[in-house]
Amino acid sequence: MKGISSYLESNKERFLDELIELLKIPSISADSAYKNDVLKTAEAIKQNLEKAGCDHVEICPTDGYPIVYGEKIIDSNLPTILVYGHYDVQPPDPLDLWTSPPFEPVIKPTELHPEGAIFARGACDDKGQMYMHVKALEFMTSTNQLPCNVKFMIEGEEEVGSKNLGVFVKNNREKLKNDVILISDTGMISKDVPSITTGLRGLSYVEVEVTGPNRDLHSGLYGGAVANPINVLTKMIASLHDENNHITIPGFYDKVEELSADERSQMAKAPFSIENYKKALDIDDVYGEKGYTTNERNSIRPTLDVNGIWGGYTGEGAKTVIASKAYAKISMRLVPHQDWEEITELFKNHFESIAPKGVKVLVKPHHGGQGYVTPIDSIGYQAAAKAYETTFGKTPIPQRSGGSIPIVALFEQELKSKTILMGFGLDSDAIHSPNEHFGVWNYYKGIETIPYFYTFFTELYK
Ligand code: BES
Ligand code: MN
Ligand code: MN
Repeated sequence: MKGISSYLESNKERFLDELIELLKIPSISADSAYKNDVLKTAEAIKQNLEKAGCDHVEICPTDGYPIVYGEKIIDSNLPTILVYGHYDVQPPDPLDLWTSPPFEPVIKPTELHPEGAIFARGACDDKGQMYMHVKALEFMTSTNQLPCNVKFMIEGEEEVGSKNLGVFVKNNREKLKNDVILISDTGMISKDVPSITTGLRGLSYVEVEVTGPNRDLHSGLYGGAVANPINVLTKMIASLHDENNHITIPGFYDKVEELSADERSQMAKAPFSIENYKKALDIDDVYGEKGYTTNERNSIRPTLDVNGIWGGYTGEGAKTVIASKAYAKISMRLVPHQDWEEITELFKNHFESIAPKGVKVLVKPHHGGQGYVTPIDSIGYQAAAKAYETTFGKTPIPQRSGGSIPIVALFEQELKSKTILMGFGLDSDAIHSPNEHFGVWNYYKGIETIPYFYTFFTELYK
């Protein structure tokens, strides 16, 4: 691979400008008010893939938002890399906490990104990281150095559970046939400690509804005499963890894979400062399951968290009322071997069983997905490690992440191929939060590293 540094140098302004144009479109998949913007983004991705050298690009309709598919097949004897990414973004709220509007990208320096970071919803998750692949392809095609075949599959529903992508993959196994899947939608340890994500957690997401009396009641006239759904719900939720922060749902841990002492000591070698961690979050202590470190708690251990809770009166001033209903949204992050549908069922049975008399409980499953771990002796991993060694001058550290990309397990099941997660974001990039950003350095580093993956993978494949 020759000339990536000089190509980057002479195109770096344009690479930023193009990404900024994409970031201006509010492709919020969760909110139907943005439907046209999501569709417009798919169109923009199509045009960019064509310009970057794909021979054939199409917008594939689904029952939801379309999937943009592109390919450049140069020789059927050569390996094929399938690049996956997503063009949809999370809702930006709460808006008042953004220092600049979420869809008016600006470049500002930060402590970890002194050379500047692009502030916008989707900058890191995942438009910025997905677009690195488009620009890496542009470099390889325009300098006649594409060493293998490539397919792109960029979806618009990752942030809402990828339901239609699952259907698309099952119906298009031949079209999507590949030798390895490459994704940049995760992070790395730090700019001078490159890492490759080797695991993702699974997910079960549910909504619960507790109903007490058939209408809202005066809290003086009825208070103390009927079950208050909010009191009941919070008590039920509190009982889901014991004093060691262990989850109390019977059977929840049955399939959890316990790592060996050796695997745990390998993990503990990754550089990590608990002091910096606490400082960055402004907390005086960490919290979690007894017997595990912070890095274990957020990667190899399953969790249960309330993501939102509501009911009753939350407006200005005070209203004395016992609400008829209370609600919560609860997510469980799972580890490999835990089956998300089974866990959803266990949750439902348990939650219904702990409801006291006087209320009705409804558990509504939302979406979910299985966890994933990838071996480090595959040629895909080896190729990625060599690519990082070339551009960072250091061997990357394998690291399991706490986040989820549920479609990855389905790719393995349906397409029988391994996924390599080459993420270039930092934990501090604030994905899903106000002021999401992506380091300009990280963006260029990704564009620089990706072509080497292509070269090394093609070499090792022979
Ligand atoms: N890109 C993230 C997942 C991620 C981020 C994994 C950083 C590892 C490191 C993805 O877009 C995401 O947000 N996934 C959701 C799940 C999805 C079903 C909504 C998540 O993890 O909450
Ligand atoms: Mn993402
Ligand atoms: Mn996300």
